[in-house]
Amino acid sequence: MNRRGFLAGAAALAPAAAFAAGLRPGIAGDGGADAGTLRTAAAARGLVYGAATSTDQLRDDDFARALVREAAMIVPEYEMKRGVVEAVRGRRDFSRPDALAAFAAAHGLALRGHPLIWHKRNPDWIGGALEEADLTGFVSEMVGRYRGRVHSWDVVNEAIDPSAPGHLRRTAWLANFGPSYIDRAFHAARQADPAALLVYNDWGCELGAPDNDRFRAATLDFLEGLLKRGAPVDAYGMQGHLGLQGAQVDQAKLRAFADAVRAMGLRILVTEHDVDDDGGPADIAARDRMVADASRRFLDVMLDSRGTIAVLTWGLTDRYLDAPGWKQRLEGWTPRRLPLDAALARKPMWRQMRAALAASPAARRGG
Ligand code: XIL
Repeated sequence: MNRRGFLAGAAALAPAAAFAAGLRPGIAGDGGADAGTLRTAAAARGLVYGAATSTDQLRDDDFARALVREAAMIVPEYEMKRGVVEAVRGRRDFSRPDALAAFAAAHGLALRGHPLIWHKRNPDWIGGALEEADLTGFVSEMVGRYRGRVHSWDVVNEAIDPSAPGHLRRTAWLANFGPSYIDRAFHAARQADPAALLVYNDWGCELGAPDNDRFRAATLDFLEGLLKRGAPVDAYGMQGHLGLQGAQVDQAKLRAFADAVRAMGLRILVTEHDVDDDGGPADIAARDRMVADASRRFLDVMLDSRGTIAVLTWGLTDRYLDAPGWKQRLEGWTPRRLPLDAALARKPMWRQMRAALAASPAARRGG
């Protein structure tokens, strides 16, 4: 089956196999021999480095080679989202996640699942009345399908809104099922794959601003509540989307938050790290330095926490970033928010990430 066939394929498993087979066998990492990759720098400290990717990106052999060299784990950027997997209610199509899982298996990469229950990137039908099959039925099927093959699942994504009643974001899930949708999703996930780490994933806790103070307090309450009720949550996923504009990381506040999460017995994953360079200087070298410094200030704290087990960036290279807006295009602006540039060359961010990984205390993993 050719690649067009892979994308159009109707059978669930055949396309994944075809996709994996379609990648050149020459795509191999350095087998861990090269100590100079993010993957090996992380491994030396008992950590895992990974990146978000997509089947589109993996068709690019140069990229796939760089990914396998640098990363030990992948997470789908969008191909496990409900709008992709169940665009038509009741007709679930796992061909894209299957292809990513096949790529991970073929190249010895761990796989993260993201996200099961979220308020964005849903098909329109999620706006209507929902049934149990749409919530726990979906979680069971998805998690069960990849049982034993997924390192960790983002079971619920971005459920917190510190300004909403009960600090719960008003979503279709909340409207249909009440607050118990969260616990029920976690229980269904645990049952479907007892070996996968179950993660609550969110943003809003990274920065020093007052709204992040409120978000941190709400998040700690939320996690405490889940644990007290016996929901099987193993880890907190901190997205780690940073920017050069506006509030920045406050290391003391971030450290206190990471300590509090760990004190609950939860692990921590940095799940979606990148640094939006919008508003930074036009000079690329200066901008790269600022991006790298922001990443380092953040990771120094997160990797110093004994609770942290993994760091993933939201993409590996600037090659596939969305085109900048018209004004920035006129200015010849190239976005630079990830460790490798569009030519797959290592940037200052890559170097600072590697330094932060190397500075992380060794042999310190665990709750
Ligand atoms: C984004 C992806 O990058 C896009 O490709 C997609 O269309 C929308 O979602 N928080 C999350 C991620 O948990 O899933 C989001 O990813 C970025 C914000």
